[in-house]
Amino acid sequence: MFSEYMYGEKNMSEHDITLTVNNTEHKLVIESRRLLIHTLRDELGYTGPNVGCESSLCGACTVHLNGSAVKSCTILAVQANNADITTVEGLAQHGTLHPIQSSFQEEHGLQCGYCTPGMMMTALDFLKHHPNPSRDEIREGLEGNLCRCTGYHNIVNAVESTAKKLAEISPGGAA
Ligand code: FES
Ligand code: FES
Repeated sequence: MFSEYMYGEKNMSEHDITLTVNNTEHKLVIESRRLLIHTLRDELGYTGPNVGCESSLCGACTVHLNGSAVKSCTILAVQANNADITTVEGLAQHGTLHPIQSSFQEEHGLQCGYCTPGMMMTALDFLKHHPNPSRDEIREGLEGNLCRCTGYHNIVNAVESTAKKLAEISPGGAA
């Protein structure tokens, strides 16, 4: 798929970039100061990643950039030129929830849900490197993501459950 978005006349502070988001390529003309989170949400309509602190503290904006979890409020869109990005919208396939989504649902790992997209993207990257984590390791792996609602207990349950599901799907736990 291909989509194109441009706003205004290009000037010296603007750049042509290409972002592939959830397997869809987007070509944009973007200001050099524009953050990736705002580009994803406002220019491209991927509103799954949320804006919380805009200062790398809360993790609500976390997406995968070339396969690794990053806080998209800490990256300029121009720095992500030619990158493959996955947002929470890219997890479900053909209407079927990703195991981490079904686990958060089953374990009641959310209340308001504001932190949830970022939690899930961080947890998946964590599980790639820790396919069979202890509860303490899960808590440590998620320490860069803040939740003001749940007390984290059910989030840890959800990540534990996801690890088990992924191990059944693919021994070794690839997310
Ligand atoms: S909005 Fe990016 S870390 Fe809080
Ligand atoms: S569920 Fe509300 S901030 Fe985490």
